[in-house]
Amino acid sequence: MLDAAGAVEVVDTHAHLEHERFRDDLDDVIARAKAAGVWPVIEVGSDLATSRAALGLTRRYPGLLAAVGIHPHEAGGASDAALEEIRAMARKPGVVAIGEIGLDYHYDFSPRDQQRRAFAAQIGIAKEVGLPIVVHDREAHADTLTILKSEGAGAAGGVMHCFSGDWKLAHTVLDMGFYISVGGTLTFPNAARLRELVARLPLDRLLLETDCPYLTPVPHRGKRNEPTFVVLVAQELARIKQLDVSEVAAATTQNARILFGSGTESRR
Ligand code: NI
Repeated sequence: MLDAAGAVEVVDTHAHLEHERFRDDLDDVIARAKAAGVWPVIEVGSDLATSRAALGLTRRYPGLLAAVGIHPHEAGGASDAALEEIRAMARKPGVVAIGEIGLDYHYDFSPRDQQRRAFAAQIGIAKEVGLPIVVHDREAHADTLTILKSEGAGAAGGVMHCFSGDWKLAHTVLDMGFYISVGGTLTFPNAARLRELVARLPLDRLLLETDCPYLTPVPHRGKRNEPTFVVLVAQELARIKQLDVSEVAAATTQNARILFGSGTESRR
């Protein structure tokens, strides 16, 4: 994917390696990522079970980092006790963010008032423990922004994962100090609007991700996504920005270090 001499290092800031599709070959997936210069990977939880699994992966693969949180799909499960466990897990070594949290009005798997409550509560936890947030926003741009502002999320900082908003939303969250993350969708034929938007966004505020096993980039669509493929996203971003992929890799890795702290410098 990169020439052998290219010591490009990229961070995959959003992966779901606990997914059953990685059950049989996760050691190989991790080895391939490291061989391609993709490290660390940030494993992102979506409920208590996957957040616990993310913590487990930080122990199984030293250097791998974790985010813990309750996804809007699972917001119905965000009881006081569940939030208390998220708070406790957030203080464990290797945990660098609260996420993924936010609103999903596309699927509406949880009632919207519960989504909003769980989102707000977890922004509070992030501020309390001093971690940034990983925000999932699908067809809920206005309410996402309202809650980010009303809960003072700028104090926690964070990233809009797999960004799907418009220039106005991008501009507003950048003003709040947030980062914007792009993944495989950047390579999709129907993503011209996203590519135009990303061309205008400052490189020092962009992050790369896979969201694997989902959103596999071109030319691997239809196959399982995995962290190694974040290199394809870096290459596409480089093409859009008319930069060398090494510049994109260096900048986005630096951005990840700034946002997620010293943990991303750890290559234990
Ligand atoms: Ni995700």
